[in-house]
Amino acid sequence: MALTDFDLVLFGGGGDLSMRKLIPAMYARDRAGDLPPNAQIICIGRQSWSDAEFINALNENARPHINEKVFAQASWDKFCLRVRYVSLDATDATTYQPLNDVLRNDAALTRVFYLATPPTLFAQICHNLSERGLATENSRVVLEKPLGRDLASAKQINLEVGQVFKESQIFRIDHYLGKEAVQNLLALRFGNVLFEPLWRREWISDVQITIAEEIGVGNRMGYYETSGALRDMMQNHLLQLLCIVAMEPPLSVTPDAVRDEKLKVLRSLKPFTPTTLAKNIVRGQYRAGHVEGKAVPAYRQEKNADPDSNTETFVAVKAEIDTWRWAGVPFYLRTGKRMADQLAEIVVRFKAIPHSIFAQSTNSFQPNCLVIRLQPDDGLQLNLMAKTPGDGMRLKPVELELDFAETFKAPRMDAYERLLLDVLRGQLTLFMRSDELEAAWEWVEPVLRHWEQEGNEPLPYASGTWGPAAASALIGRDGLQWREEALPE
Ligand code: BG6
Repeated sequence: MALTDFDLVLFGGGGDLSMRKLIPAMYARDRAGDLPPNAQIICIGRQSWSDAEFINALNENARPHINEKVFAQASWDKFCLRVRYVSLDATDATTYQPLNDVLRNDAALTRVFYLATPPTLFAQICHNLSERGLATENSRVVLEKPLGRDLASAKQINLEVGQVFKESQIFRIDHYLGKEAVQNLLALRFGNVLFEPLWRREWISDVQITIAEEIGVGNRMGYYETSGALRDMMQNHLLQLLCIVAMEPPLSVTPDAVRDEKLKVLRSLKPFTPTTLAKNIVRGQYRAGHVEGKAVPAYRQEKNADPDSNTETFVAVKAEIDTWRWAGVPFYLRTGKRMADQLAEIVVRFKAIPHSIFAQSTNSFQPNCLVIRLQPDDGLQLNLMAKTPGDGMRLKPVELELDFAETFKAPRMDAYERLLLDVLRGQLTLFMRSDELEAAWEWVEPVLRHWEQEGNEPLPYASGTWGPAAASALIGRDGLQWREEALPE
């Protein structure tokens, strides 16, 4: 579907997200021929730069994040002509006139305000846009995570942004939903008959969702200290993945049909009790260690770090979903920085066979396992048992592999490319609704309060490992192992 002409306004236009993700994504879509000829990208910042000075900043900070296979100087130069820079103070409506001057006043245009700013500014920017008459009927607003820092602040954002924009104009972004593999999970579950009958407590033993990063906190200490892994990754990305795995078949892929089903999952998450708070959550912080053979410092020794910081860089949770489909099936979720590997995957482990007709005992059979890999490359792996060739009946685990890049040989789109296109098309399916956001915070809230009250110090883990030993114990208590622990050496 061709895009209608648009003005895209990036608040935080000179910031990290804009440089690393948003500008490269818009460039890639321009290069692919998706952008209308007159579309503008208006970057907002506080520095008083001219357009030319801002283009220099793009060359320095955004250009290195563009895939070399996509980049071509001529098309980049052309793309830069679309970019305007406007200096204003986002908190002060009286400084908004230069934005007014650059925006085109045409009701046929789509106008998008992308707020890549701290969430404390969301409400204020929306009110300012409204006061200056810039938030028109055909405007949309994109809210980048973190969407608040607890339930109360998320509700406040929903309330105040909702005073300016209708729900159908609000795009709450979670870039994990834009990843190819996540959409493939929808295709796998609802485009095939094979898995759905088995996708339930009768046949599934447990589900593991891991997002492991090798990188540390880098130059984001200011933000990360106010957040930690629970707020940064668990409340949003991991819970969204859990929703896609666990939701009932939606009526269609229309926004509300999908979001209604995800909401039901979030509302069915078993609330934590004082016992499960202590038992089912592991909180860790990285110490010095080695990642990819290189010595790396402890979190508390990173640039601008508080040497006594108790911010968690790792969290593992055992979650349960109280529904007929999932009662009793544990969902183990974990995420961490400075881990042993860079990967994101969903592992659905099926139950063991009920009885062996072979000489081998049932416990020599590895249960079937479906691995949906999101990163580093996207693919599927299905573990089966098969007979080894030759005489005798010996069964052994084998793997069916599907590598999507290999299979489709089509160029890959970054999550932000897809999501930005969806915003520009007005397609809300992959964005969170206000009630979903609040339900996710509601589940996480008791954990935050518990940590605050206990002042509980995160467990140390060496950089380059899979997190604190307590994370293995968390799953081990149920007689299970994380996937990497269960793999043969
Ligand atoms: C962001 C977090 O939302 O996701 C970062 O704020 C994290 O801390 C990033 O590094 C991970 O995203 P991806 O797509 O690189 O796995």
